[in-house]
Parts: sequence; structure tokens; C-alpha cells
Amino acid sequence: MSVIEKDFVPVGYTADNITGKVTWKAPSNIALVKYWGKRENQIPANPSISFTLDACNTTTTLFYVKHNSKGADFSFDFFFEGEPKDDFRPKIEVFFKRTEHYLPFLRDYHFKIETSNSFPHSSGIASSASGMAALSLCLMDLEKQLNPEMDTDFMYRKASFLARLGSGSACRSIQGDLIQWGAHSDIHGSSDKYGIQYPFQVHEVFKNYHDTILLVDKGKKQVSSTVGHNLMHGHPYAAQRFEQAHQNISRLKPVFVDGNLKEFINIVESEALTLHAMMMTSQPYFVLMKPNTLEIINKIWEFRKESNSNICFTLDAGANVHVLYPEFEKEKVHQFIKNGLIVFCEKEQYICDRIGFGAKKM
Ligand code: DP6
Repeated sequence: MSVIEKDFVPVGYTADNITGKVTWKAPSNIALVKYWGKRENQIPANPSISFTLDACNTTTTLFYVKHNSKGADFSFDFFFEGEPKDDFRPKIEVFFKRTEHYLPFLRDYHFKIETSNSFPHSSGIASSASGMAALSLCLMDLEKQLNPEMDTDFMYRKASFLARLGSGSACRSIQGDLIQWGAHSDIHGSSDKYGIQYPFQVHEVFKNYHDTILLVDKGKKQVSSTVGHNLMHGHPYAAQRFEQAHQNISRLKPVFVDGNLKEFINIVESEALTLHAMMMTSQPYFVLMKPNTLEIINKIWEFRKESNSNICFTLDAGANVHVLYPEFEKEKVHQFIKNGLIVFCEKEQYICDRIGFGAKKM
């Protein structure tokens, strides 16, 4: 075990909390340089960087009651939007198994986990990032009560470390506003184990960037991210792709300093299309884009050319399109989205989000 992992194993607790509850709200995030491919124990095959979002978030309340003795199994009830949800239980079980070494109190309590999302469940927006981040923060909050000396930086770092074990991209959903996860030679302090706040200068233009999420397909995607990540093992282009992600993070460094939006667009759109190119070239191959995803991309390119706008797109592992643009173009881009893009959305639905500053205790 590396020194870092050992650091996250508590030596003992000074307090003894019997019962209580904590609530945290954690945001979703959108990767600019994508995480696609991982090794054992949720170690990313390449570094990634993301904007933390604001409007799309998960709120989780963790109720805890201490048992008289350590339980043989994890003991918890799970409620999603007020209803018991058994199909979420296996994910939480796996998460508890992966994290119990670092949270030795997990079997000491019965938990009730109540969680809800700000965005519609069937929107095709992944809730695993914000969900795992919110739960990890609740658990760290409890650990801080058991160990009041814990400092806040450590608490956030360990929350990110735990969230990663639940879902990789979740480790980028603890803080804001620009988060880097994965060891990179140019970024001191970067780690495969947790996300860090981007440590370099970032131009004003990126401080209030917008992300309007166009809901092209609200259905459940046919291939989960976890399956997709695994298909990068033995993928013919994997090595070049991982190398390219390192290069793109280096290329972004001066872009973030100068606010060079042309170069930003070039990197971000290339990353999105490369992600989907990896899917289309794995064995088995698959396509998550829909015809309307491509319609939107083409319209964005047309509009950018005609109006000299800095609008661009990125994609997650799905058909929805994230439309990114700076604050100073807000009016013109909103107009374009309303008049030119929402016809391609399922039921004309979209979510106006923007860069956010991290999770909050409620
Ligand atoms: C395409 O974090 O959902 O959104 O670690 O298996 O839970 P697991 O995968 P997940 O993968 C997200 C992939 C992505 C790109 C990104 O967010 O960087």
C-alpha cells in the first residue's frame, strides 16, 4: 500500500457518536479531458480535468445509529426521492466494501441514506458522480465528528479518494471549480487516487463558463461506463489515447492562463470526439451518439463559423450534448439554442448549468 493510501486509514477515534444525521449537496461535473479506461482499484488509465457544475447536483442525508456491537454485514436502508430503491443497494454494498478499510466504523452503524437529484432521474445525466460524492462527504462528516481534530483539506481529499472508489469521475465532484484527477508530470500534487483543485492560474473567462445540457436521449444507455472503461484493455488505440490525454492537459495549461478560447475549443471538442471514437473502435464496438447528437454538433459548427462565437460542445458517455460558452456570449447563445438546437432534444428539454464551486454542507 502506498503512503497515501495508508494516510487515509484512521488510527483511532477520539469521539463516540451514537446517533445523528448529516446532509451534503454535491454537484455533477463535466470532463474537458476525458477519463476513459481504468486499472484495478479505480486507478485511471490517464489524467482528466473537469469543470465542476452547479445546477445538476445530488443531495444526500445520512442518518446513523450505532449498533451495540460490530455488524457482520453492512446495515443500511436506501431511499431515492423518498422511495426505497433496492436496485441501488448493490452499488452501495460495493462502495462500502471498497471503502471499509478506510472507514472502519462502517459496520458499527445502521445507516439510512436518503438521496435526491436536482435533475430528472431519466434525463440520461449520470448521477453516480454527484451521488457518490455526496455520500462520501456525509461519511467524512461523520468521521470528522469521530475525529474532530481532522483538518478540512484532509477531509476533502479523503472524500475525493472515497468517491473515486465509488465511481471514478465522482472524485472530481467534491470541490470546484476546475478539478484535475490523475497523476500528470506537469501538475505538482496531482494523484491517481483523488482529485485536486487545478493549481495554476485560470483566466477570468473560465470563472463563469456556461454549460447548457441538451437532453437528446433520456433513455438508459445501452453500454455502461464501467463496461466501456474495460473495453480500453487491449484496445488497439489505447496507448496513443492515454498519451494524448496527457498532452491535452499540458496544452490546456497556457490556454487557462491566456483565456485562448480558440485553442480551448479545439482541445475540448477533440476530446469529446476521441472519447466516442474509442467506443466505436473497441471490441465489441458501440455507438452512443444519436442522429440528433450529430445534428447539434453540425449546427454548433455552422453557428460558430457564421457568428464568430466561442460556443463549443462536449459529450459524456451518452447522446446528450453539453454546450459550453463564456458568460459574455450568454444572450446570443441562448437565442441560438432556443431557435436552433432544442428541436433536436427529447421533448425539447435542456438544463441550463454553469461552472460551480463544489459541494456544500446543508
Ligand atoms: C465519459 O466515472 O462513470 O464521463 O469509474 O466506472 O464509475 P466508473 O466510471 P465513470 O466514467 C465517466 C466517464 C466519462 C468521462 C469523464 O467523466 O471523465
